[in-house]
Amino acid sequence: MLQIQENVSLKNFNTFGVDVNASFFAEINHENELVELFMDPQWQQTERLILGGGSNLLLVNNFEGLVIRVNIRGIEHRINKNEVFIEAGAGEVWNDLVNFCVARNYAGLENMSLIPGSVGAAPIQNIGAYGVELKDVFYSCKAFEIATGQFKTFTKEECKFGYRESVFKDELKGQYIIVSVKLQLSLTPSLNLSYGAIGQELADRHITQPTIKDVSQVVSHIRVAKLPDPSTIGNAGSFFKNPVITAGEFKPIEAKFPDIVHYHAGEGYVKLAAGWLIEQCGWKGKVVGHTGTWKNQALVLVNHGGATGEEVYNFSSQIIDSVYSKFGVTLQREVNIIG
Ligand code: FAD
Ligand code: EPU
Repeated sequence: MLQIQENVSLKNFNTFGVDVNASFFAEINHENELVELFMDPQWQQTERLILGGGSNLLLVNNFEGLVIRVNIRGIEHRINKNEVFIEAGAGEVWNDLVNFCVARNYAGLENMSLIPGSVGAAPIQNIGAYGVELKDVFYSCKAFEIATGQFKTFTKEECKFGYRESVFKDELKGQYIIVSVKLQLSLTPSLNLSYGAIGQELADRHITQPTIKDVSQVVSHIRVAKLPDPSTIGNAGSFFKNPVITAGEFKPIEAKFPDIVHYHAGEGYVKLAAGWLIEQCGWKGKVVGHTGTWKNQALVLVNHGGATGEEVYNFSSQIIDSVYSKFGVTLQREVNIIG
């Protein structure tokens, strides 16, 4: 039976560890509970926040609405010759799914080891790390349409995935709740070792013929060294996206800053390393009030304890301003700002 709690603290439901309250809070363990919930027209009219692991959002104020925490579980897998189809409930922990697959030698997720959060949130920003994005293994997802109470299956094309982008963050924002995700993996791995640090770490370990388990371990090792663990220091990973600019815009910047870290991003486009831009502005490891940037990764904003969402938000605006003044590039927040 679906329960709706009132005045619930969200401190343990967001990895920034920001202490705000939600007016109403419902935990969904089965997709039918969404149908039940929205049969009551009251909830159609109420402001809503769909919540997974809370690892990609910043809560700026108390949430005067209904938080819907998706906790739908279950993993099913089906093998068809060399292909493996995995269907997982949106409330499964992403890294548990990765471990499930790596343990069975189902290849495709190993580079995305240790990304926090839920399976259901993975398509929202097309999560990615170390040369692989969700879209590379995505088959489809099933979602509940709030306005109609119907379930719809989205194909990969319909999701319109891009770098940290999907249809769910853009034109369909707030309209659907993802209840399950289906991935297409393989029994014959073609490893992606393109990210420099992976090759280096494998060489350091004298691994010449890596397995998917090796890649998963190496990626996890690199991540732990670089990123703060939210269970000890609040954060939501990269706070900004790496900016993508045109080759024309890049030229004068490169002329002024020949060391600028950048990558080819398709014909006529260049991606800049936001962490580098922020570091060059002198922000790396800086503590400002209760917040600051991480000492090993300037792109990660942290809560040193007791920071409010507003404090973190204002600090992020300061960073945007200083990067713009120095480089003429506007950083976009990657983290979802709530309230
Ligand atoms: P939440 O923070 O709960 O929600 C994120 C957004 O998705 C919100 O807008 C929410 O409303 C929406 N949402 C959540 N669940 C659903 C659902 N079922 N249906 C519809 N909408 C939903 N991300 C990367 O891509 N790559 C990384 O390498 C990476 N590293 C990280 C490292 C750290 C230390 C941290 C803290 C975060 C990192 N992230 C990374 C960000 C984060 O892990 C991902 O964005 C993740 O997918 C968020 O999952 P979540 O369940 O916590 O989402
Ligand atoms: N850099 C600096 N200073 C810093 C940080 C980075 O100079 O403080 C430069 C370095 O040259 C480094 C380069 O930036 O080589 C890239 O840094 P890193 O490999 O750490 O990756 P990133 O571009 O900062 C992106 C994702 C991460 C993902 C990693 C690995 C975005 C916004 N972030 O970070 O995703 O884990 O690549 O693939 O695309 C997240 O989304 O939350 C996240 C952590």
